[in-house]
Amino acid sequence: MFYCSKCGYKSIKWLGKCPLCEGWETFQEEKEEIEGEITREKIKPRLIKDVEGKDFNRILTGIDEFDRIVGNGLVNGEIILIGGEPGVGKSTLLLEISSALAKKSKTLYVSAEESPEQVTLRAKRIEASAQNLYVLGEDNLETVFNYIKEEGFKFIVVDSIQVVYTPRYDGPKGSVLQLKGSADYLTQIAKTLGVVVFIVGHVTKEGVIAGPKLLEHIVDCVLYFEGEMLSNYRILRAIKNRFGPTGDIAVFEMQSSGLKEVKKTTDIFLPHKDEAISGSSVVCVIEGLRPLLIELQSLVSRASFGVVRRRSLGFDFNRFSLLVAIIEKRLKMSLSSEDVFLNVAGGIEINDTAADLGAVLSIISSYKEKELPLNSAFIGEVGLAGELRRVSNINLRLKEIERAGFGSCFVPESNLKDVDSKFKLKINGFSSLKNIVEKIWRA
Ligand SMILES: Nc1ncnc2c1ncn2[C@@H]1O[C@H](COP(=O)(O)OP(=O)(O)OP(=O)(O)O)[C@@H](O)[C@H]1O
Ligand SMILES: [Mg+2]
Repeated sequence: MFYCSKCGYKSIKWLGKCPLCEGWETFQEEKEEIEGEITREKIKPRLIKDVEGKDFNRILTGIDEFDRIVGNGLVNGEIILIGGEPGVGKSTLLLEISSALAKKSKTLYVSAEESPEQVTLRAKRIEASAQNLYVLGEDNLETVFNYIKEEGFKFIVVDSIQVVYTPRYDGPKGSVLQLKGSADYLTQIAKTLGVVVFIVGHVTKEGVIAGPKLLEHIVDCVLYFEGEMLSNYRILRAIKNRFGPTGDIAVFEMQSSGLKEVKKTTDIFLPHKDEAISGSSVVCVIEGLRPLLIELQSLVSRASFGVVRRRSLGFDFNRFSLLVAIIEKRLKMSLSSEDVFLNVAGGIEINDTAADLGAVLSIISSYKEKELPLNSAFIGEVGLAGELRRVSNINLRLKEIERAGFGSCFVPESNLKDVDSKFKLKINGFSSLKNIVEKIWRA
């Protein structure tokens, strides 16, 4: 068989161009020969109503933020994929998790990328050397399987899936068939022995886990570990989860002694909470299930040499360009000879349109060099006509804003009817950008 090394498309003959992902010269020949499976008991179809559905026993690591992300604890037989760019801290995170789990049961850290000595050095640095934590420098998964059975390991980490292999599958390490085969094999180990398996997957430049998407289909839970290389903050995000919700995020800080959970995110995302600075606004976005207060910062300055620059960091560039166009057209402010920069504090990426209003106001604030009212947050989607559109989960956002100690919040008028009456927060409703700008700066 021939496989596309990019997307895993299967074909019986070699193709120059992949019909699925349109990649050129991506096909590799790989033999599809699978002998002997891990023994499985014979199973027959059963009526769903007769199958005893027990609630899962959740296994807590004690790292609260991690436990929350996986759906309040791990489940026996679960297989979890952790993806992330090189050097983001995947091995560090997993070493900390294994150290926490080793306090409960025997845990095996299979290090195929680094030598056991390297792993031990890191473990010393981050003080992850629990009694029952074992390390194994091995890349043959069948050998690993034998150890797991013999020694009765309960938690297994495989670092990383791209450098291990299973002899029963042909092809070199990291090839499509090996990746899929190894992931399948590890899934069988997890399900038959009831152990929890973590696998590390590298992420390519395009931000997808190297190797085909099918890796994500095989596992129960996919977590992405991301972060700007320049900042010490790292975000763990659940992309897929068969045992819990997705989209939720947890924030960690990389320190020399390892990753520390950040429970109070306001220090990172709201650096100027108590200062009035032109170009700064506070928005509330929802990441997964979690409301996050974040500061947006804009800088509008006269362009030199007649070339205007537009940049957005952490904010979708197309959306940003659209908002700049709305300001020019609907508020009659000319930005055509101004450089406009927009930055999201804390190095996080936001995708919630409820941040539109805050972005627009921060740009105008920098343009006018006049601060926005202190102690206020801004929520609202901005439409092309400059109208403020209703956002989802308004009460969840307002609750978070109130909890962080803000005194007032500006929201779309159409959201007012959804607002619970119990807030102490002063809630101001507006129907359009024009009204809100006039109200704030009495232009
Ligand atoms: N002494 C140290 N003090 C502080 N931070 C450190 C120290 N040593 C390493 N780090 C941090 O750990 C990161 C590397 O972590 P780790 O090896 O866990 O990443 P990884 O995602 O597993 O990388 P790879 O893709 O190479 O496997 C570095 O980028 C750095 O931020
Ligand atoms: Mg690593």
